[in-house]
Amino acid sequence: MRLEDILFSQGFGTRRVCAGLIQQGHVQVQGQTVVDAGEFFDLEGLRFKVQGDDWPFAAQAYVMLNKPAGTECSQKPSTWPSIYTLLPPPLRQRPQKAAVQGVQAVGRLDQDTTGLLLLTDDGNFIHKMSSPKHHVPKVYEVTTKHPITAEMVEKLLSGVVLDDDPKPVKAAACEAMAELHLKLTLTEGKYHQVKRMLAAVGNRVEGLHRSRIGGLELNDLAPGQWRWLTEEDLSLLKP
Ligand code: URA
Repeated sequence: MRLEDILFSQGFGTRRVCAGLIQQGHVQVQGQTVVDAGEFFDLEGLRFKVQGDDWPFAAQAYVMLNKPAGTECSQKPSTWPSIYTLLPPPLRQRPQKAAVQGVQAVGRLDQDTTGLLLLTDDGNFIHKMSSPKHHVPKVYEVTTKHPITAEMVEKLLSGVVLDDDPKPVKAAACEAMAELHLKLTLTEGKYHQVKRMLAAVGNRVEGLHRSRIGGLELNDLAPGQWRWLTEEDLSLLKP
């Protein structure tokens, strides 16, 4: 593919902007500055630098973010800064594919929730990961206001009724880790589900952190940081 088209496909701006970046000597491929916007490169395993930043060529972008507290998962947030401001502009500007322009969050976390959030420009992936049919387990570390009792754990596992739906929702797994710390695994993603489930058993969420989706863990990614998902990471997300 021509270098100008490669940069365009990766979200570096219009073809004209991309050609300008190349012609002004801001783009390096394999350690060499390339000034011919029409030069061809093989996409397989291609990495390039734009203004010093290293980029892999990605036909579709899949990244994970450690969402900090006090951020909204909306592109147009009402009160708090958007999580999208934590990502570099090319990830947000990747050209539109199907209905999706730039990477989009796979589901949402509340403003005060922290932890693992996936973002991609692959609409099918978003659909699959969000579909209740696929039952991808999500693990939440919950800090509660009141001590967690065996009865609460039992109710969360057997099913609680939330206000908008008569069908009970159940935790796939639920373990009290400490007096005020519960580890809860859900396979659906209803609005404020953890908070509403805890309220339904007479407790209250004081802190909420998502540590795992499928087999993919947040590990030591710092709050506010993002990284590309590897092939191995993606295989850990398969239901
Ligand atoms: N459940 C909640 O209540 N909030 C979240 O952010 C995620 C799950």
